[in-house]
Amino acid sequence: MAKLSKDVLLKVACGFTVVMTSLCVALVLLLFVHKTETAVQPTPESEPYLIGVGRADCTGPPADIPLMGYATSGQTAAGIHTRLYSRAFIIDDSKQRVVFVTVDVGMISQRLRLEVMQALKEKYGDVYRQDNVILSGTHTHCGLGGYFQYTLFMLSTSGYIKESVQPLVNGIVKSIDIAHSTMRPGRIYQGHGQLEESSLNRSPHSYLNNPEEERQRYKWNTDKDVTVLKFTDLDGDGIGMLSWFAVHAVSMNYTNRMVSSDNMGYASYLMEQDKNGGQLPGQGRFVAGFSSSNLGDVSPNIKGPHCTNTGLPCDYLNSSCPVGGTKVCTAFGPGEDMFESTRIIGDNVYRKAKELYASAVEEVTGFVNAAHQWVNMTDVSVEIDSTRTVRTCKPALGHSFAAGTTDGGGDLNFTQGAVEGDPFWDGIRDAILGEPSKETQDCQHPKPILFSTGEMTFPLPWHPEIIDIQMITFGSVAIVAVPGEITTMAGRRLREAVKKGLQSEGEFGNVQVVIAGLSNVYTHYITTYEEYQVQRYEGASTIFGPHTLSAYLQKFSGLAKAIAQGRVSELPAGPEPPFFNNPPNLMTSAGADKSPVNTSFGDVLEQVLPLYRKGDVASVTFVAGNPRHSGDMRDKTFVTVEIHDNLTDTWEVVHTDASWETRFHWLKGESSLSNTTVEWYIPSTARSGTYRIRHFGHSMKRVNWKPVITAYEGTSDVFKVTAGYYFSKN
Ligand SMILES: *[C@@H]1O[C@H](CO)[C@@H](O)[C@H](O)[C@H]1NC(C)=O
Ligand SMILES: *[C@@H]1O[C@H](CO)[C@@H](O)[C@H](O)[C@H]1NC(C)=O
Ligand SMILES: *[C@@H]1O[C@H](CO)[C@@H](O)[C@H](O)[C@H]1NC(C)=O
Ligand SMILES: *[C@@H]1O[C@H](CO)[C@@H](O)[C@H](O)[C@H]1NC(C)=O
Ligand SMILES: *[C@@H]1O[C@H](CO)[C@@H](O)[C@H](O)[C@H]1NC(C)=O
Ligand SMILES: *[C@@H]1O[C@H](CO)[C@@H](O)[C@H](O)[C@H]1NC(C)=O
Repeated sequence: MAKLSKDVLLKVACGFTVVMTSLCVALVLLLFVHKTETAVQPTPESEPYLIGVGRADCTGPPADIPLMGYATSGQTAAGIHTRLYSRAFIIDDSKQRVVFVTVDVGMISQRLRLEVMQALKEKYGDVYRQDNVILSGTHTHCGLGGYFQYTLFMLSTSGYIKESVQPLVNGIVKSIDIAHSTMRPGRIYQGHGQLEESSLNRSPHSYLNNPEEERQRYKWNTDKDVTVLKFTDLDGDGIGMLSWFAVHAVSMNYTNRMVSSDNMGYASYLMEQDKNGGQLPGQGRFVAGFSSSNLGDVSPNIKGPHCTNTGLPCDYLNSSCPVGGTKVCTAFGPGEDMFESTRIIGDNVYRKAKELYASAVEEVTGFVNAAHQWVNMTDVSVEIDSTRTVRTCKPALGHSFAAGTTDGGGDLNFTQGAVEGDPFWDGIRDAILGEPSKETQDCQHPKPILFSTGEMTFPLPWHPEIIDIQMITFGSVAIVAVPGEITTMAGRRLREAVKKGLQSEGEFGNVQVVIAGLSNVYTHYITTYEEYQVQRYEGASTIFGPHTLSAYLQKFSGLAKAIAQGRVSELPAGPEPPFFNNPPNLMTSAGADKSPVNTSFGDVLEQVLPLYRKGDVASVTFVAGNPRHSGDMRDKTFVTVEIHDNLTDTWEVVHTDASWETRFHWLKGESSLSNTTVEWYIPSTARSGTYRIRHFGHSMKRVNWKPVITAYEGTSDVFKVTAGYYFSKN
């Protein structure tokens, strides 16, 4: 139409022979010159987004509370390796807004999500809702547990622990608050690359059960893709980065007792340190999120599994050792110890992301969409083809669940790959928990059921039934929020199904689908149907049965189609998940503290040395109180390393307990005594000079039965750090 009227106008004004009348010249200028001018302008044509980024500390009390991940009894918090953060990213196209939050936590639980959504509703009304907020966990196994409302998860974490939940909820909400209050016009660019030598398939035997023609389409048995989104303001200055790479955050093993954000958290740490000009960790405006993806069968322990007693490789099929069984089959590497392994994997991921961030030029433009549904996952039927309809099952865990993995084996004599039950354990199960129904056994076949969690409701249901199916898109980027740990091949199938769904209407040409793992509600694992048949740990932990993935493919492609067709509002919301009042809390409150005779809290029990060289470890031990008595220590620190400024005669903080270089250990002793050892791994970059180490805490005593909490602090002797010789392992 525009073309036609232009031609008509020209013909009228200029005549058919194009005589240059003044009106004609004016029109030619107006219609054509203006057009060519805009066409050669180098600035982007697209509308900017409104973008906000925010980061907030979500570290809870680092003492007594069980760590969430390995379910190893006795692995309770006892200090801080690195702090945990929630990182929020808001994208708004002036019609729709979406929020993606990646949290240094084992996984998002349904309870945690419900509490966060409730807090957001009270603050923001309908701005942040079920459909436009995704919460995803990095899958660190060294965060605090106790934020679940289903019995199975409460068993290993002493129930539901308010003390542990509150800092998480407050930290997540605060990260969104900061992102919300810093929203400004900006642009998003994407970068894609591959990272090798940082991940290993830990169930290759399951992977090999996938069809050969499917496997032949891929070079690797884990996804090596790194996806990076670069967020800038309109001047092109970076304000944040969000990336995804599929690897378990289990470089720190189950012997660690310090709260730690593990490899993914360390990658965030490095990127933020780099972009925030050397400010203390957790400070500075640049926010770098490293999110989990289809990591279900992916280990960072890339030297692979070996028997710790003989050094020989474990049995390939069942990951056990001739002597010692499953427990001694452990994967290590790439470093000499878990700290070095964490550092190497984190550093690899960071370097690749940084490279992609620096070179990202492909701008993401276009509408923002969000779609969400609650689904009763025990009750989904899927038409596989015209002759066959299959169903999901009531949740259940197989025998191999109790075997654990080569990243942390179980204590009992279970092995991976069990497709038959064990009369001994089945007997115990039947006696204590009751026999699984025939219906569930048939539905879950070939899984030998250890815990028929879908049939266990005491004192509360053991597993969720209602789960979140959710995805967001902005321009050609789609983020799929998967409520669990999806394996490599299952993730690939899901990405394809979502892509197909989005492309069903032509709007989404070259769409990039990324999987955000451990999102919204935890349902353990999602394997392919073929991997499920092998029943290694991941298959045994695919709780809704062999057709779990098929159900997800159907539900997520349903969301994708709804987005593509602009019919999101027609999607049924689905059944709301339950919110259980007063889930049991078996965690006893922290008792009174005592200090050894003739000492006070904060006194030094073991002094630093007068002199260290770079590369040494400075260490000091203080009389301490239980860190739980310090209450909410978010954005604070239990530890500082300080350097003396001779000119001003003041002390400058160079490290806190959030720093990679410091380790804060809390040692709980007998008779209410405890102490704190602070270690400083002096880096090669440390300034030579005069230093001291300080510790801040609180002790509790009872006065007339009432707890009285008193703050204390302790300071080491002054010591010197000199250049010396530094044999770096880097
Ligand atoms: C593991 O598999 C090997 C055969 O590959 C077998 O000899 C061994 O008994 C199995 N171990 C267990 C504990 O099932
Ligand atoms: C955990 O790592 C430490 C070294 O940091 C090592 O001594 C220990 O053997 C490891 N344990 C397991 C089970 O991997
Ligand atoms: C899920 O569906 C099953 C089977 O229809 C039903 O028994 C169960 O009550 C539903 N669960 C919830 C929480 O609505
Ligand atoms: C596990 O241990 C029990 C008791 O020691 C034994 O009866 C059972 O056969 C063992 N199972 C396996 C698979 O070794
Ligand atoms: C505590 O201090 C007092 C007074 O200085 C001293 O007599 C006593 O021996 C000390 N006790 C211990 C256990 O050091
Ligand atoms: C610190 O406490 C632990 C646990 O009670 C104890 O073994 C250790 O000796 C204490 N350290 C000092 C220096 O007193």
